[in-house]
Amino acid sequence: MHYPEVAGNRKIGVIPMLHKDYLLGILQSQFKLDFYGIHGLPHWERVAERGEALSRLTGANPKVVEYFAYLHDSKRQNDDHDPEHGLRASRYCRSLYDDGVIDLTPTELDQLCNAVRLHNLRHVTGDITFQVCIDSDRLDIGRVGKMPSPERLFTMPGKAMAMRLQAEVALHE
Ligand SMILES: [Fe+2]
Repeated sequence: MHYPEVAGNRKIGVIPMLHKDYLLGILQSQFKLDFYGIHGLPHWERVAERGEALSRLTGANPKVVEYFAYLHDSKRQNDDHDPEHGLRASRYCRSLYDDGVIDLTPTELDQLCNAVRLHNLRHVTGDITFQVCIDSDRLDIGRVGKMPSPERLFTMPGKAMAMRLQAEVALHE
């Protein structure tokens, strides 16, 4: 199956570059899997890119969404079934915040931790920032050979992106 790539680009987003590079250095140093594998940096960058676009279209908090992109899979212990990885990553977000690595307000930190903790559970929803976090991640399911399903996305722009991806893939088949 041909799947249209979104180029990873760390220059996008609202977190300053230097700050992001510092954060990514910390994430890489503790990451248990291939940093460039299916749950690593290229995935995080595509989630960030889609998250930025969806935030612009929906009014979600772009900073929370961007932190979500880089942190939600940071505590995976395998690339397969790892149901606790969201919970581990949300605790990690709090410890990074306590160390001054995450630049958010306490309310934004709660939004981030909530989205990270619940992102791998189905049928859980929340405010628009939560929904954009989840949609941005689900839109990247193509990297493992599946098509993002509009029914599994929360936001209208997310559903539209999924339909566009489906149409692009159909064009190449
Ligand atoms: Fe992910």
